[in-house]
Amino acid sequence: MKKKIANTLSKETSLSNKEIEDLLEIPPSPELGDLAFPCFSLAKTLKKSPAQIAEELAKKLRIKGTEKIEAKGPYVNFFLDKSQLAKETISVILRQGEKYGYSKVSKENVMIEFSQPNTHKAFHVGHIRGTSLGESLARIMESQGSRVIRANYSGDTGMHIAKWLWCYQKFHSKEKLRDNEEWIASIYVDAIKRLAEKESSQEEVDEINRKLESREDKKLNELWKKTRIASINSWKKIYKELNTKFDVHYFESEVEQPAKNFAKMLLTKKIAEISEGATIVDLKSYNLGVFLLLRKDGTVLYGGKDMFLAERKFKEFNLDKSLYVIGREQDLYIHQVFKTLELIKSPAAGKSFYVPVSEVRLPWGKMSSRTGDNVLYSSFKQELVKLAKSKLEERQKLPPKELESRALKIAVATMKYTMLKQDINKNIIFDKEEATSFEGNTGPYLLYTYARAKSILRKAKYKKANFKIPQLSDEEKQLILSLSKFPEEVKKAHDSLAPNIVATYAYQLAQQFNEFYHKTKILGSENEQFGLTLVDAFSQTLRNSLNLLGIEVLETM
Ligand code: ARG
Repeated sequence: MKKKIANTLSKETSLSNKEIEDLLEIPPSPELGDLAFPCFSLAKTLKKSPAQIAEELAKKLRIKGTEKIEAKGPYVNFFLDKSQLAKETISVILRQGEKYGYSKVSKENVMIEFSQPNTHKAFHVGHIRGTSLGESLARIMESQGSRVIRANYSGDTGMHIAKWLWCYQKFHSKEKLRDNEEWIASIYVDAIKRLAEKESSQEEVDEINRKLESREDKKLNELWKKTRIASINSWKKIYKELNTKFDVHYFESEVEQPAKNFAKMLLTKKIAEISEGATIVDLKSYNLGVFLLLRKDGTVLYGGKDMFLAERKFKEFNLDKSLYVIGREQDLYIHQVFKTLELIKSPAAGKSFYVPVSEVRLPWGKMSSRTGDNVLYSSFKQELVKLAKSKLEERQKLPPKELESRALKIAVATMKYTMLKQDINKNIIFDKEEATSFEGNTGPYLLYTYARAKSILRKAKYKKANFKIPQLSDEEKQLILSLSKFPEEVKKAHDSLAPNIVATYAYQLAQQFNEFYHKTKILGSENEQFGLTLVDAFSQTLRNSLNLLGIEVLETM
């Protein structure tokens, strides 16, 4: 509809279609119509007051699909013909099905790097936020035509591994190696505890770290390899539960060597310099401090590896764009990487973007994988599964297997939705009572609303058929208007890399549906077929929204 209006308006004004589309607003209340065009920007060229222009335009315009065009102060208000809109919207949704909201506007090759747990350490609640965000961004970008490469990047070398191996060899060597997230994290936590108790042990750890770097100790290498694989395997189950799959998984260990050469190349190019023995890039004139590439002893730092990796990504996948979904605390750091890419005129320069992930706090404090007062994915999930089960059991008796699988889906929807509905710049304080409630702005509420819509269709033995558009109630008009806006909302979420736009949309849509359903008698009414078709179009659209958030629906709940 926006397009239609823009098309007509552009013939009457000096503005382009695109400019008009951007100017069109949604009025604050229904008495002011469904779309409004502000005339301020025309006042100068036309040398008339905005109100006068609005008045003249409103008189002149005839647009199919509108039932009224009215001037109100400096605005032209458009009232859409709701039955026309209903017919168009519903038929588009039913025709496009799971592709409703999709477009082909973007043809970019985009890599999204996200999740990034480190081996030998916890996969904790913070990782769930990054994983949910990355997966949802990937789906949103794909929905607009991009080809997305999902990348993971894990730290599998360095001091934290040395600590783990030291602790295992010295205190846990009788325990069988397990590819279990909790066990792996517990060894690391134990290492930290023991090192705090006896500081002199750090020398032993340093020795292990040195041997690990030089690869000289065969037994140690073997243990590293095995435990590394155990860690990686422990993530498989997690990613499966979180509906995520990666196309490529990078590891720090494999970029170590080439990163050293890369850093040396930066020295020859005089982008990097030696300062107190270390290889650095001085970015103080850009207000970005000093960026470290190599230590004094020649070992490569985190930054050195990222420089090399940034380019490798572009070469390997011929990227148009590379996104980094990483913690907000790495803000300065990642901008050091981006600036240095610019300085060396890398193919990655200007095409690498940062999507910051803010913290997740549980009411019992900030999480740290060092001290162990972080919450692991598995225990967090178990807690949510337990709560979901008790809510399901209040309603009905289910076979144990069915109960388990439904509860898991609800638990995943709970965590993902809580992580995604929040603006990425804001911290999340996870309140489990609130997040698991079947009412309010929650994952379970959305799943429940979807399942409810599906059960209405099942009960009515609904089949697609022709329908007549009746006199529409206010609730029906609202619902249809919202359904028609879905593609626009997805595009907005895409352009601003903000899945929370889709989340907010899904919640409002569900609320409108519940209001409509509450006020409307569908079964047995003379407009039954229309009512059911509207329920069908709604459930399809809600399902598509949840899919873009990476949340799977339940047909019954
Ligand atoms: N593994 C890193 C960490 O735990 C995050 C990696 C972020 N990605 C990157 N390209 N630096 O902090």
